[in-house]
Amino acid sequence: MRTLSIVHAIAAFVSCTAAQTFQRLGGCPDLGCVFPPDQADFLAGQYFDIRLEVHSPINGSEARVGEPDPNFTFTITKKRGKPIAATKFFKVDEPKLERWDFSWYEDRFAEDADTPSIVNVTSKIYRRVALKEPGEYEATLNYYGSQKTVANWLVRDLPTKRRAKNVILFIGDGMTTNMITAARLIAHKSINGKYMTKMALDKFPVLGHQMTHSMDSFITDSANSATALYSGHKTTVNALNVYVDSSEDPFDDPKFETIAEIFRRHHPHAGIGIVSTAFLADATPAALTSHTSDRGEYDHVISTYYEGLTNYTWTEWNGPDVLLGAGAENFLKSEDAKRDYYDLFAQNDYSVAWNKTALQNAPNDQKLLGVFQTSNLATWLDRNVYQANLLNKTNYPDGSGRDADDLPGLKEMTLKAIDVLHERHSDDGWFIMSEAASVDKQMHTLDYDRALGELLELDDTVRATIEKLKHLGELEDTLVIVTADHGHGFDVTGSVDTKYLEAQDDDRHKRSAVGYYESSGLSQYTTGGPNSLRYSEGVHFPTRWDPRYTLHSGVVAFPDHHENYQVHKDGPRTPALAAQGDKNNYYASYKDAVSGILINGTLPVDAAQGVHSLTDVPVFAQGPCQELFGGVYSSIDIFFNIAECLGLSEGK
Ligand SMILES: *[C@@H]1O[C@H](CO)[C@@H](O)[C@H](O)[C@H]1NC(C)=O
Ligand SMILES: *[C@@H]1O[C@H](CO)[C@@H](O)[C@H](O)[C@H]1NC(C)=O
Ligand SMILES: *[C@@H]1O[C@H](CO)[C@@H](O)[C@H](O)[C@H]1NC(C)=O
Ligand SMILES: *[C@@H]1O[C@H](CO)[C@@H](O)[C@H](O)[C@H]1NC(C)=O
Ligand SMILES: *[C@@H]1O[C@H](CO)[C@@H](O)[C@H](O)[C@H]1NC(C)=O
Ligand SMILES: *[C@@H]1O[C@H](CO)[C@@H](O)[C@H](O)[C@H]1NC(C)=O
Ligand SMILES: *[C@@H]1O[C@H](CO)[C@@H](O)[C@H](O)[C@H]1NC(C)=O
Ligand SMILES: [Zn+2]
Repeated sequence: MRTLSIVHAIAAFVSCTAAQTFQRLGGCPDLGCVFPPDQADFLAGQYFDIRLEVHSPINGSEARVGEPDPNFTFTITKKRGKPIAATKFFKVDEPKLERWDFSWYEDRFAEDADTPSIVNVTSKIYRRVALKEPGEYEATLNYYGSQKTVANWLVRDLPTKRRAKNVILFIGDGMTTNMITAARLIAHKSINGKYMTKMALDKFPVLGHQMTHSMDSFITDSANSATALYSGHKTTVNALNVYVDSSEDPFDDPKFETIAEIFRRHHPHAGIGIVSTAFLADATPAALTSHTSDRGEYDHVISTYYEGLTNYTWTEWNGPDVLLGAGAENFLKSEDAKRDYYDLFAQNDYSVAWNKTALQNAPNDQKLLGVFQTSNLATWLDRNVYQANLLNKTNYPDGSGRDADDLPGLKEMTLKAIDVLHERHSDDGWFIMSEAASVDKQMHTLDYDRALGELLELDDTVRATIEKLKHLGELEDTLVIVTADHGHGFDVTGSVDTKYLEAQDDDRHKRSAVGYYESSGLSQYTTGGPNSLRYSEGVHFPTRWDPRYTLHSGVVAFPDHHENYQVHKDGPRTPALAAQGDKNNYYASYKDAVSGILINGTLPVDAAQGVHSLTDVPVFAQGPCQELFGGVYSSIDIFFNIAECLGLSEGK
């Protein structure tokens, strides 16, 4: 007895550990999988697909004898009701049985030894169903005779009356409260510990915190987190608006509808704007229209902006009114981009802008595509302070090989988006997502000055947006939200005397340049009275980026790198380089911050950059429904609150 129970305990422990970082399939509690999984929430009427899988592991710790069950059954039970076969419940045909195998590694040892475990699968998918009646449901998969996997689903009971005409959702990608605090420190003058001015974010009436965890890992990526923010469903890393099934095809996974799709379905004449400083195929903009388990499917992303989901109808998608950002390589026909999207958008009544002047001159009554360079948009710091870094990039968005030298920023793009949507949809209202993408991108590469510049540009954009909405008479009818999709482990712990650091010969002495507590002193980035600010009234950026005493800042996890705590005047930094091109082996770059201290990495040596972190992220809200955004809640509540405010619940 005793031996048996110990064996049993060890077995339970082993399967529990195996399900941690290496998983057979996230969201499967057992050999049966139901997607949407247990604890999924739905907006009443939101379309979604249901994927069922039954697994028969052929080898590995879970090995069993026999084929996966081809005769599994699936029922839906409304609370206090009887189980009803899904075909009858949703009035759909029985889907055909699919079969495939897949393999996975149970842990790092199995990966090192290249001994994957193989799983045989039977599966069915029910496409495009919806639950209209609020309440609790049990979705039950019965298989292998007596086994069952139950997913508890909740259709939220939300008010159906529309309260906001317009919604603008700002996302500071990777932005945390710590970064906002640091940005305030460098851009706002303070006297004896008190700020003379506030950031636009500081003036919001409602502040909340959202928890960003993924479905199957507590650290999220931007695809997964944007999915939660726009669709109300948590999924796995790299997925856009699908639950990830175990089949190979990145396009067959069970989809669910996004806020943009639902808004358009309810209001065919409502406006949609998508603005980002990233390449437009990147995850945060992509998540408004894309449905794939692989965020790297860039051609799919651009095609869904243009035509929605091909051969899959839950709405007559006619494209966003405004799509502004970078990443021309995904619009020009190439190996990766199957079509010339500039031509296609132009044929579909879009005006196409390739520079700031053209953006500003574009007619406000026409749909607008603006793509301003290849790759990500140059950072605010390079566009405004170190402009030599814009030269010789051969990045003009028409593919001609010229330099893109007339670039808009987040503010110019967002204000233009509002002009177009206001002109085109002053009756039906609009939804805009505007992303400051490079807060995240520059945090990844430990380029804190550039990241904070992006954050200050976001703050300036929010300020200018509120002024513009007031001027247009739309402020009272517009819900304005500013939040993030996840954080990075950034903070400031003091100051650095960069002159002293430079003068020391070895790393241990260089560390004496760091001043902490009473030796941290005061910020030298913004000096002089409010009238000596370099930018116009109300706009706050540092008066200088290279004071002698800089911030002692860093992140909690990083690759090997040098740190001299100085602004990188020669362009965005690359802290680590692959040794002899070996992408699994990164060392401190020999040309980055060479006069600085060598800091040995804490991440695996295949990491070239810093990574996302666990922290909750802030939510600032003002306008109709602002009260919904106070307190601490899940990332998916952002979706439900926006949907409620736009009256998109079909609940009865
Ligand atoms: C599945 O059902 C069919 C038809 O009832 C039956 O012939 C078959 O043996 C069943 N297969 C399994 C593995 O239970
Ligand atoms: C796994 O499934 C395939 C069908 O997809 C089948 O041909 C094969 O025999 C199965 N393998 C095992 C070991 O059960
Ligand atoms: C499972 O079987 C495959 C194919 O025979 C083999 O490559 C793999 O190493 C096996 N895995 C384990 C964990 O035994
Ligand atoms: C859409 O359907 C058409 C007609 O059935 C087919 O030719 C085309 O390949 C389908 N496209 C996609 C992306 O599935
Ligand atoms: C901006 O775009 C317009 C329209 O394509 C073009 O005529 C103009 O030359 C461009 N300006 C610059 C500076 O590239
Ligand atoms: C740009 O290229 C030109 C000619 O190729 C060269 O003379 C110039 O120094 C380069 N400028 C920068 C900033 O790299
Ligand atoms: C960094 O790591 C190297 C070995 O890779 C070691 O020699 C060196 O002492 C470490 N430096 C610090 C500051 O820990
Ligand atoms: Zn992100």
